[in-house]
Amino acid sequence: MKKKLLALFLASIMVLGLLAGCGGGNDKNSGGGSNDGGQQQEVNTPDPAPAPETGGDNTPAAGSAGTIGVCIYKFDDAFMTTYRNALQEILEGKGYQVTVVDGNNDQAKQNEQINTFITQGVDALIINPVMTSAAATIIDTVKTADIPTVLINREPTAEDMAAYEKLVYVGCDAAQSGTFQGELILDTANKGDINGDGKVSYIMIQGDPENIDAKLRTEYSVKALTDAGVEVEELNLTRGDWDREKGQTICANDLAQFGEKIEVVFCNNDDMAVGALQAIQSAGRKVNEDIYLVGVDALDAALNEVQAGNMTGTVLNDANGQAAQAVKCMEALLNGSTYGAGEQSVYVDYVKVTPDNVSDFMK
Ligand code: BGC
Repeated sequence: MKKKLLALFLASIMVLGLLAGCGGGNDKNSGGGSNDGGQQQEVNTPDPAPAPETGGDNTPAAGSAGTIGVCIYKFDDAFMTTYRNALQEILEGKGYQVTVVDGNNDQAKQNEQINTFITQGVDALIINPVMTSAAATIIDTVKTADIPTVLINREPTAEDMAAYEKLVYVGCDAAQSGTFQGELILDTANKGDINGDGKVSYIMIQGDPENIDAKLRTEYSVKALTDAGVEVEELNLTRGDWDREKGQTICANDLAQFGEKIEVVFCNNDDMAVGALQAIQSAGRKVNEDIYLVGVDALDAALNEVQAGNMTGTVLNDANGQAAQAVKCMEALLNGSTYGAGEQSVYVDYVKVTPDNVSDFMK
């Protein structure tokens, strides 16, 4: 099944500007970095697996390709866990010495981690910022240190990125995922209007609103309905910070307050949707019969629920595809490519997941 997903990913890379999936840019052929790594920073990940001296099985020796620092905004995030594991696997498979650090959702801590990596002399950085608003500072730091950097998952402004030509952002077009969520509802038998009162009454459980994914998913999921001429009523919008428990609590409270009025539960991600489902089931409601529920990410837990008919659908946020693309861009930067304004964002497509195609995404 992984092969299927890889094929899907290869078919679906969408690139903005002139940046041909990081194959483009201005290749100065300056080669990769030249340091030897230095001391490892303490991390919550296992030690790099011992690699063969010569890579006799075609696996390059660990560290032979260079040293890479990876900063994740927090390890305790379901989607970013899949993403960071994929990054680590790909990088180690290519012979890089990789250190992955947990920012604990604390930007000051992540800033220190970036500085430590720079002091250690890593060849390149892959950074999932804690706060999008910190991107300008992060970019200034890596530019001053002249470290090729790939930002992931939290998209900075094009203006911030333009400050440094050895910087690329790899992510997805968050508006697309919102649109797909709306379309999942439009594709139901009654276009989301279960009680037939001429409008779709929904609750929105939002991720961290500082993150553009949360903003755009919230906006575009509803816009898909209104663009199709469907009247909507927002019963409540609450921030759940991407978190399963918060998703459950918010949904339970809303169900207690609005009861059968709620026809659709939009969740900005699957972890919150899986939490919401627990609340829906505890309230004796039945997804796809008297309420609809959609998420984003295609986490394993959500795929199981889509298959079982307990979620209306989800949207694949392709962690493996984005990890592969991030590494590709990092290597282009290490090979001397540079990117100008408007060339620095690389997007991987989202994919709608319904009961009809869910098995294609299951391992
Ligand atoms: C994912 C969320 C995740 C967030 C972290 C989003 O793209 O859909 O599940 O929590 O990224 O920044």
